[in-house]
Amino acid sequence: MGVLAEAVETKMISVYIMGKKYEVPETLTIMKAMEYAGYQFIRGCGCRGGVCGACSTVYRKEGDYKIYSGLACQTVVEPGMHLTQLPFFPALRAIYEYDRIEATAEAIHQLYPELFRCVACNACTKICPMDVEVLDYVSALKRGDIAAAAEISFDCIQCGLCSSRCFGEIPQYHIAQLARRLWGGKIKPASPHLTAMVEDIDAGKYDDMLAKLLSMDAEQLKTAYTEREMEPAMADETWKPSNTDGLLE
Ligand code: FES
Repeated sequence: MGVLAEAVETKMISVYIMGKKYEVPETLTIMKAMEYAGYQFIRGCGCRGGVCGACSTVYRKEGDYKIYSGLACQTVVEPGMHLTQLPFFPALRAIYEYDRIEATAEAIHQLYPELFRCVACNACTKICPMDVEVLDYVSALKRGDIAAAAEISFDCIQCGLCSSRCFGEIPQYHIAQLARRLWGGKIKPASPHLTAMVEDIDAGKYDDMLAKLLSMDAEQLKTAYTEREMEPAMADETWKPSNTDGLLE
C-alpha cells in the first residue's frame, strides 16, 4: 500500500498588487506573492535573502492610513495588503577617487554638504527595514565621528528607503558607505589575519586548490559543495575542519 501524503491546506488571502485583487497563500513573502500572482522579476529581484536591499517596498493595510515599508523578500503578506514595488531610489552619490581622498570628516563634509540639511526628524530611522539607527549615524557624521558612523551603519543594505523619506534630500546610505570605506580601508589598523592571508595567496599557497576546482565539471562541483565539511551549528570557536590546508597557520 502506498503512503498517503496528508494534504495540507494553505489558507488563501486577498492582497492588492498595483491596485488589482489577487488570492495568494498566506505563507508567502511579498516577492513570492507577486510571482504567484503572475508578476515576473526579470531584473533587480536581488538576492532574495534580505541582504542586497534591491526589493524595498511600500504597502498599506486596509483601514489603516499609514504607509508601511519593508523588504519584499522578507515581509510575509497579510490580508488586505496593498502592494507596490519601488524602483531603486535614485539618490545622488558623490563622485570621488577613493585613493585620493583623505579619511577625514572634512572630506566627507565636502563631498556631501547636504548632510547639514538634516533637521533630525528621524523619518529615516523609522522607515529602515534593517532597524539601523540612521539619524544616529547622520549625527555622528555631522560631528565628524567616522568610527561611530561606520559602526552604527554596519547593517545597512543600501536599499535607499531612508533617502526616499528625507525632507533634506540626503543620500544617507551613500554617505554611510563612504564612512565605512574610509574607516575600514584607511583608518582602522590592517588586520594581521588578512595581511597574512594575502601574503599566502601571493606566495601561491592556494594555486593547487584553485586549479583543482577549475578542472571540475558542474556535477563534480555540485558534489564537492554538497559534501563539504560544514561547521556544526553549536560549534565553539575552537572548531576546525579535519583538513586544515586552507587555514592560516
Ligand atoms: S532581494 Fe535582496 S534584500 Fe530582498
